[in-house]
Parts: sequence; C-alpha cells; structure tokens
Amino acid sequence: TDQINGASSGITVVRKKLLGYVGFANLPNQVHRKSVKKGFEFTAMVVGESGLGKSTLVNTLFNTQLYPPKENVELTHETPQTVEVKSITSDIEENGVKLRLTVVDTPGFGDFVNNEESWKPILDSIESRCDAYLEQENRVNRRKLVDNRIHACLYFISPTGHALKPLDIEFMRRLHTRVNLIPVIAKADTLTEEEVAAFKERILADINYHNIQIYQAPAYEYDDEETIAENREIMSKIPFAVVGSDKEFEVEGRRVRGRSYPWGVIEVDNEEHCDFVKLRQMLIRTHMEELKEYTNDVLYENYRTEKLAAMGIQQDPTVFKEVNPIQKMEEERTAHEQKLGKMEAEMKAVFQAKVQEKETKLKQSEEELYARHKEMKEALDKQRMDLEEKKRRMESGRPMTPEKTKKKGFSFNK
Ligand code: GTP
Repeated sequence: TDQINGASSGITVVRKKLLGYVGFANLPNQVHRKSVKKGFEFTAMVVGESGLGKSTLVNTLFNTQLYPPKENVELTHETPQTVEVKSITSDIEENGVKLRLTVVDTPGFGDFVNNEESWKPILDSIESRCDAYLEQENRVNRRKLVDNRIHACLYFISPTGHALKPLDIEFMRRLHTRVNLIPVIAKADTLTEEEVAAFKERILADINYHNIQIYQAPAYEYDDEETIAENREIMSKIPFAVVGSDKEFEVEGRRVRGRSYPWGVIEVDNEEHCDFVKLRQMLIRTHMEELKEYTNDVLYENYRTEKLAAMGIQQDPTVFKEVNPIQKMEEERTAHEQKLGKMEAEMKAVFQAKVQEKETKLKQSEEELYARHKEMKEALDKQRMDLEEKKRRMESGRPMTPEKTKKKGFSFNK
C-alpha cells in the first residue's frame, strides 16, 4: 500500500494493490463501444477563392463524391452579390464506424472587385453557430444538444509562390480566435519542390509577423515517443501543400489517384509528391477529436465568456457559480419593473400634491367669493333699509306725487 499526500488539495490518496480482477480495466472498451454506437460528427469549413480546388480536395479527403461533379451542376455566370455560406451533410461509414460529416462551403469568398469585408459573413456564420449552441445550453432541457459549430477551417492559399495576399492575412487575422485555422497551399502541383519550400517559409513568416494563431496540435505528457514524433512530423508540414484529384491512373502497375502530366503522374497519396496524406492524417486519423475538443474547450469557451461578459454577466473567480443568462435577464426585468413602479408612485404623489394645491386654492377663492357676496348683500340690505327709512319719513311729511316717484325710478319690489 502506497500513501500519496495531495498537499495542495488537502486530500490523502491511498494507492492500493487489487487482490483480484475487478473489471474496470474494461472502462475504455465501454467508452469505445458507446462512441461507435453513437457515431461521430465533424464539421469542417472550406474557404478560398473560387477554382482553388476546394470541392475536389474535400472529395479526395473523404474518398467520396460529397460534392457533385461540376459537369452536372448548372453553371450560372452571375456573380453572387455576397459571400454565401452553404453546407452539405453526409453520413459516411468505414469498418462499421459512422461519421456524420458536414462541409461548410463559402462560395463567393475573394471573388469580388472589393473583397474588404469578405471575411464578415464567414465570421458571422461561425459566431451564430456558437450562439445557437449557447442558447441550447441555457435551455431547461439540455439533452440532445445539436452541435453545428465549425471544428476546423481549411483556408486555401492560392499557389502564387510569392507571399500571402492582404485578403488572406485579413481573413486569418479576423478568424483565428474563433476557429481552428488550417492553412493549405492549393494546387501544389503547379509549383516545384523548391518553390513550395520557399513559399511555405514565407507564409509562416507572414503568419508570425501578424500574430496569427494557426492550429497547433497539443503535446501530452502521456504520449509515447512515436506519437510525439508523428505529431511533430505533421506539424512540420503546415501549411500543407495539397493536390486533389478524383481520377485514377495506372503507374508501374499500381492504381493511383493523381493528376497526369506529360512527364508523369503527381500522386495524391504519395508523401514524396505532396502533403495530402499528412493533412488527411491530421484531420481524420489523429486529430479529429482534438480539433473538436479545442473548439469546445478553448475557442467556444472564450466566445461564451466574451458574450456573457458583454451581457453584463460576470463570474466571481473566488466563488464557483454557474451563470445563467435567463435567470440574469429575469433579475434585470424585475429590477426594471421595480424602477418603473417607483417612478409611477412618485408621479402619483406629485399629481396628488398638485390636486390638493388646486383644491385649496379653489376653496380659498370660494370663501373669498362668499365673503364678498355677504358683504354686498349686507351693503344692499343697509341701502334698502336706508331707503325705506327715507320713504317712511317722506310719507309721514310731504307726500311725493306718483309722477315724481316714477321719474326718480323708485320701486320697491318686495
Ligand atoms: P468553386 O466551387 O468555384 O469555389 O471551386 P473549387 O475551389 O471548389 O474548385 P474545384 O474543386 O471545382 O476545382 C476547380 C478546377 O481546379 C477543376 O478543374 C479541378 O480539376 C482543378 N483542380 C482541383 N484540384 C486541383 C489540384 O490540386 N491541382 C490542379 N492543378 N488542379 C486542381
């Protein structure tokens, strides 16, 4: 029995020898069976100017006619107005393992007179796929999440043999924090071996200069020598110089996929001829799960944090608390309603005070009016009494003629 003290975690782990077979050595097999049953999903995006061989390469990579042959596609000569984002999904199977492959194409990229904003619809599409995932995560029912996030983006560089174009740099600069970028030199058979080597160097220098982060396979401590060497070999080929073809030729008695030239055949699956094999190895055989993991754990996680932070949600680093945007929105709504309620109450109070003031003023003027009325009435009464007194005196003395009385306009209506 071994005792290990986890000083930092404060947990004491005791390592014990088993007395017999228990069975958890079979755990990896359980995972294996389950994942084979569930099948795998992978979403790749291809970006590059029209005619760089994107569809041919995808067909060559997955050895299937994912893209229909161009002869059967109705060709339109209208130039599209914007960069489109189109996806094709197909289920493929190899030795009983199912893969649902989605290829997202971006026709129109780099095909305009002004390509300044060509990257924007592509970035929007990548982000909206992350938004859709985030929205599902925040639902009450999180079973069956549909993952449409892009796991890798193959960026096709035109085989000019010079350097990256401003369009290439702009695209990569804008997208590198959102997606696993895998740059490839398209139609590498149009360059000589030396030209490819020099072009690769120049491309890497440009990428470094602009601080663009392209996909790097992580190295793990538990990896054996062979895996480490294999990884290093794959990474040393980036940007992969690729050749695509769905045609087969006979070379020294072998059937090979390639492109035929008067001086011979360039073989797609021959590592001496191009990096196609290495690209396929990385994308499909060795790093598909890594690409998905990096997308989920790093790229998506960063996007999620930025998005939630922009909504004003912050996570206290000292307290682990799951932030729920719906709950947060609910809280904000309640706060807003409380504020509105308070404002309404204040307005009501002001209104009541004004009404009170008006009422007091009205009462005051009513009282004034009443007082004036009383005063006038009293004055009139006094006047009447005076006149009656006068009349009586006159009647008791010299009586007035009725004409005179009329002329003076006296009348006593009682
Ligand atoms: P859009 O659909 O217009 O975006 O084109 P794309 O990038 O999908 O190119 P596509 O695969 O249709 O290939 C265009 C042309 O280039 C076709 O005639 C292909 O045969 C040819 N092509 C494809 N891959 C290669 C390659 O690796 N080398 C050479 N020399 N030609 C290629």
